[in-house]
Amino acid sequence: MKAVIPAAGMATRLLPATKSQPKEMLPIVDKPAIQYVVEEAVAAGIRDILVITGRGKRAIEDHFDRAFELEEMLRAKGQEDMLREVRRIAELADMHYIRQREPLGLGHAILQARTHVGDAPFAVLLGDDVVFSDEPCIRQLTRVFQQQGASVIAVEPIPPARSVLYGVPALGKRVSPGLWEITDVVEKPKPRDAPSKLGILGRYVFMPALFGAIERTKPGKSGEYQLADALRVLLEEEKVYALATKGRRYDLGDRTEWLKTNIEVGLMRPDTRKALLPFVRAMARKPPRPLR
Ligand code: UTP
Repeated sequence: MKAVIPAAGMATRLLPATKSQPKEMLPIVDKPAIQYVVEEAVAAGIRDILVITGRGKRAIEDHFDRAFELEEMLRAKGQEDMLREVRRIAELADMHYIRQREPLGLGHAILQARTHVGDAPFAVLLGDDVVFSDEPCIRQLTRVFQQQGASVIAVEPIPPARSVLYGVPALGKRVSPGLWEITDVVEKPKPRDAPSKLGILGRYVFMPALFGAIERTKPGKSGEYQLADALRVLLEEEKVYALATKGRRYDLGDRTEWLKTNIEVGLMRPDTRKALLPFVRAMARKPPRPLR
């Protein structure tokens, strides 16, 4: 199965950091978000990865390419471990890139993958959503896809107040614990309008019929082709399942979430934990004064 990583959004919530660099390249500690996403796909056995890029996203292509000067310098300095790591990144997967010429929404971004994917099911992993789990999140979905033979989207329980940040599925028949047929998707509903207590996260396996559904989708108020609207069109023709995936998901599209992610992962990593833990404790006891 091929994977598609949409990474062409404007990332306005993270400006000015994202004025000239992609949010997908913002690090979690010292590794760009999109590298975690590519490594998840690779761990699930996916080799062919298409990244949907746009203006100002060159750094993504450079990151997954060879860097001869840098390699030469690391070799000269005897930094063999880092040299191996830098080369490993360039050999992770068969990386492909296509540009979304205008950021017309996530649905439109996925449609750019049609020629590369062809008439086959495909995985989608959002480039700004990182999931830590024992079994790669996307493999949890491909397993269910193989059983059901239909599109599967990943969901997680969300606190009601956060429904305004998510696509929320309406649930139909429960197939097994944590797996439902869905009947509708509502984009960013107010808590009282949310049809379930689940939110959609950035991992999906789609039947190729999704491409036709996106084409038949009308743009929303902002002029963007939303994935949630395309899912509604797809639901008129085919079954779509929601799977409550296991793992911890980090949304890097928002500045506070990005900061929290860095602190949490910094506390998890053996090489940064020792220095960070006393620092975080001290900060919690006596927080610094707010900047004016
Ligand atoms: P977001 O909804 O976070 O939008 O996109 P955004 O433009 O990146 O960020 P904000 O809201 O302006 O801060 C979710 C995913 O879809 C991709 C993004 O790159 C991100 O991975 N996307 C979004 C596209 O590839 N193209 C688009 O036109 C919109």
